[in-house]
Amino acid sequence: MNSLNTIENKSSATARSDIDGLIRRQKSGCTLEQVFYRSSEIHQLEFQRVLSPQWLYVDHESELPEPGDFLTYEIGEESIIIVRGSDRQLRAFFNVCRHRGSQICLEKSGNTRRFVCPYHAWAYDLEGNLLSARHMADDFEQSQHGLHRCQVEVLEGLVFISLASRGNAEFDQIRHNLLPYLKPHGLTQTKVVHREVYPTHANWKLAVENFRECYHCMPAHPEYTRVNDYVRAGERGSKAYQAMAEQFAEAARRKGRKSGVEYFPLPAQPHQIWRHPIQEGYKTLTRDGSPAGPLLGEFEEYDGAETASFMGALSYLYATNDHATTFRFTPKSPELTEVVVSWLVREDAKEGVDYDLDHLRWMWDVTTIQDTKIINDNQKGVNSSRYSSGPYSEHELSTANFIAWYLWRLSMPSFRR
Ligand code: FES
Ligand SMILES: [Fe+2]
Repeated sequence: MNSLNTIENKSSATARSDIDGLIRRQKSGCTLEQVFYRSSEIHQLEFQRVLSPQWLYVDHESELPEPGDFLTYEIGEESIIIVRGSDRQLRAFFNVCRHRGSQICLEKSGNTRRFVCPYHAWAYDLEGNLLSARHMADDFEQSQHGLHRCQVEVLEGLVFISLASRGNAEFDQIRHNLLPYLKPHGLTQTKVVHREVYPTHANWKLAVENFRECYHCMPAHPEYTRVNDYVRAGERGSKAYQAMAEQFAEAARRKGRKSGVEYFPLPAQPHQIWRHPIQEGYKTLTRDGSPAGPLLGEFEEYDGAETASFMGALSYLYATNDHATTFRFTPKSPELTEVVVSWLVREDAKEGVDYDLDHLRWMWDVTTIQDTKIINDNQKGVNSSRYSSGPYSEHELSTANFIAWYLWRLSMPSFRR
């Protein structure tokens, strides 16, 4: 009987000790055993121990411009409503009626003055207060039955939620660390102009592992490699790219801007951000390097670089001088991950005048289609009876670090929600 069957056929308490044993026997610097990519028990446990303590990027604030604008985000067993109140503040609530627990908001997005539960019509205002509840006893305390709040934070227009009810204090540090890199891009003055959903038939960790290494870039991404010189430079140790990067760092220093890489090993949410030049002669990440839209934020001219960040396990960002792309990974089941990519340009840009959608989305669309295929094929191979844990190369250090951190978090007591 393999480990997967062993875990799923046992009582929960025994299964937990099996998982602890499994964690201990994973080889450092190697991929995980098959069970980590397939088991629904581990999938559930990692929500509690690894993902719930994180701040998760959901969307860009420009999607909720007016009071009453709302969207819902489903992750794990949770559905979260994010809504702009009449005071223009963003708030988030668990989508759970305080009467008998029905979901109250069944739409993905919209605009409303109140949320009315479809079951017995309890009504809540945009601040989550219970406004009315029919035929309740005289001593029913309406004020005690507001919606449960969900933590929400906004960083340069990027909206994050945390499923933890308290004790999730790392956001201030994340903001402090990422802001110096993000600020020049003026992301608060951007808007989402395109969104693509890439259903990925693989465990979320395979998607993350793939996203954190460029060992696969030469064989799998000819287009990405063509517009990102660092890929070939990394393979061959190119002096020319090194010289370009040093020149770029010097110019950035003169302007008081960031360059290079910084890694922040926070316990619940390690994150990383970097800024480096792309391809000689390329202004931005397009097929031929020509502009994708009007310059963003503080930029007065192109410097031919990108800012990129692993903001958390499921949240990623790439930004050049004229556009930004966000990635949101949502684990849907042990072998299904929803990857949503959003493209942002300056808020006053007009399609067909200031930007062309195909030109704008070309690189990350073609690259994400390729990634989806290689990740799907990865899962198929991992599912084979002959799969066994394999060693990471020196070009997969970030992936190996992610797996080491993941195992450490999974071995910790469950996070209190
Ligand atoms: S469950 Fe919502 S009103 Fe009854
Ligand atoms: Fe890739």
